[in-house]
Amino acid sequence: MSDTIESILQEERLFNPPTEFSERAYVRSGREYEQLYSRAASNPEKFWGELAEQELHWFKKWDRVLDWQPPFAQWFVGGQLNISHNCLDRHLHSWRRNKAAIIWEGEPGDSRVITYGELHREVCQFANALKSLGVQKGDRVAIYLPMIPEAAIAMLACARIGAPHSVVFGGFSAEALRDRLVDAEAKLVITADGGFRKDKAIALKQEVDKALEHGAPSVENVIVVQRTKADVTMTAGRDYWWHELKPQQSAHCPAEPMDSEDMLFILYTSGSTGKPKGVVHTTGGYNLYTHMTTKWIFDLKDTDVYWCTADVGWITGHSYIVYGPLSNGATTVMYEGVPRPSNPGCFWDVIEKYGVNIFYTAPTAIRAFIRMGEAIPNARDLSSLRLLGTVGEPINPEAWMWYHRVIGGGKCPIVDTWWQTETGGIMLTPLPGAIPTKPGSCTRPFPGIVADIVDLDGNPVESGQGGFLVIKQPWPSMIRDVYGDTDRFRFTYWEHIQPKEGQYLYFAGDGARRDADGYFWVMGRVDDVINVSGHRLGTMEIESALVSHPLVAEAAVVGRPDELTGEAIFAFVSLEGNTEANEDLKKELVKHVTAEIGAIARPAEIRFTDVLPKTRSGKIMRRLLRSLASGQEISGDTSTLEDRTVLDKLREG
Ligand code: PRX
Repeated sequence: MSDTIESILQEERLFNPPTEFSERAYVRSGREYEQLYSRAASNPEKFWGELAEQELHWFKKWDRVLDWQPPFAQWFVGGQLNISHNCLDRHLHSWRRNKAAIIWEGEPGDSRVITYGELHREVCQFANALKSLGVQKGDRVAIYLPMIPEAAIAMLACARIGAPHSVVFGGFSAEALRDRLVDAEAKLVITADGGFRKDKAIALKQEVDKALEHGAPSVENVIVVQRTKADVTMTAGRDYWWHELKPQQSAHCPAEPMDSEDMLFILYTSGSTGKPKGVVHTTGGYNLYTHMTTKWIFDLKDTDVYWCTADVGWITGHSYIVYGPLSNGATTVMYEGVPRPSNPGCFWDVIEKYGVNIFYTAPTAIRAFIRMGEAIPNARDLSSLRLLGTVGEPINPEAWMWYHRVIGGGKCPIVDTWWQTETGGIMLTPLPGAIPTKPGSCTRPFPGIVADIVDLDGNPVESGQGGFLVIKQPWPSMIRDVYGDTDRFRFTYWEHIQPKEGQYLYFAGDGARRDADGYFWVMGRVDDVINVSGHRLGTMEIESALVSHPLVAEAAVVGRPDELTGEAIFAFVSLEGNTEANEDLKKELVKHVTAEIGAIARPAEIRFTDVLPKTRSGKIMRRLLRSLASGQEISGDTSTLEDRTVLDKLREG
């Protein structure tokens, strides 16, 4: 990365929202933002209660807006609603019935436009298909699909009948899928024969078969969408084709009234220790918060074509491709492909083809576009764009400037949105018509979010100083639990920072600072989580994958800075006995990790070593490994190191 931390800290450029943007925005000025913010802060229950009433449909009104028994929050207690109803049925009584809900573009160039009326019909039929296989309210359903409309249809159908979904990113391997199926005790899996990615057909059903062979006893049925027409093995009585099962079903399926706190979905994410955590989100608060953030942050209007390039396998896809946009009655674009050698400009083609107005992507994609050269986007008409967004990792100011100039034509505000799987929705962000932006800063908290930067005792640090990013008050879409592991929920998020008076602070795992204008600058993870291309990976997860190889005795994984992906995976590996360390074994280990987790966990570099640097109590000193991996001099205290000669050996590598 060309920008050093120092240059980020000295960033002083300020971009005011263009007047023509502010004039028609939902939130039009800094003053309006301040008013909203203080209204929410002074009486959060009134603020959220009024919005819930105005913006969502409820089958039954709540008795209490918030019940906060730290760290357990319940929002809209006693209220009943259904997010699928809010995303579909309520739009059918207006002109939106015939409006495009989803514009989908497949990688090979096929496409579909699905109106709200059609989407409602598809969702109802598929919901009945799930019921026909015995899926009931409360049963968990896994979704392992490529970026095709059926992914959104499946999610909405699960929500409609009250079966929590667990979407597993299609890039995860059979092993990773199996772990998630077992943890969630999924009853049914929805998959496809495959999907198209980088001009290749990727097999998915085959991975499901492998996962089930290795043991996921809770799974009773598999529904398979035909996408690539690859040969697949269908097990009689267990596996059903989507296109055979769904058309037989009635298109009448009333949405199940759900309690506001009924579980909507589980989504697995990496932590600093052990296996991935099943982050639990519930219905009412999540529906409201993703609805409001989508509306105000993306300034979403009925005439907009909105496109978020994430995959539905991540929280960004859940909140800002499916639920937030559809709850607002917006047109949301879904694209199956990614930029690839045969079409590096495919994103700009999609923008030109559909006249996309709002475009939301990741810094790693922007850095890849910079490398490819601006001639590619310059050859397309991007004049429809009016707002840009980024998410997933800190954006370096120069990438921000390029995005602003080349893609936004210097006229589009950029919303740099900081949030997490656990927060459910965007927490720190500019409101594009109201808040001047600074390249590299996610600026200010969304109304209702009380964020701070503190030390380990929970004391706020001075402006300009680094510290831990925390959230001090509950918010509607906050994580409710780690599925099946409430102790882990408490320990990970609520016990790391220990304020004196027993106050509970949500700890996000990120380091940040705040400047003199109150703007937040997120610096990255402060735990053992690596952020590769905006994807979170736990170092322990990769280490366990490595040591599950019979020739590996021990492994330590760290992140090292990478110009393109933000961070890259660097693994130090010591081998069993007299195993010969060679290039072939490195390749084999890379393949092994890919099979255990998926291609996103592929180590960029493996260094064989006899020993790892450890403290006298046997703890691996990752700080030293991080310095070594990034080619820096080792600084700081090394006196706790058990054997000082280890460092020289590691340097020689
Ligand atoms: O480190 C932060 C980084 O991504 C982490 C959350 O990852 P995940 O749960 O996978 O969700 C990604 C999409 C919401 C955070 O703890 N992160 C996310 N957005 C930003 C960011 N870091 C800096 N700036 C951002 N805008």
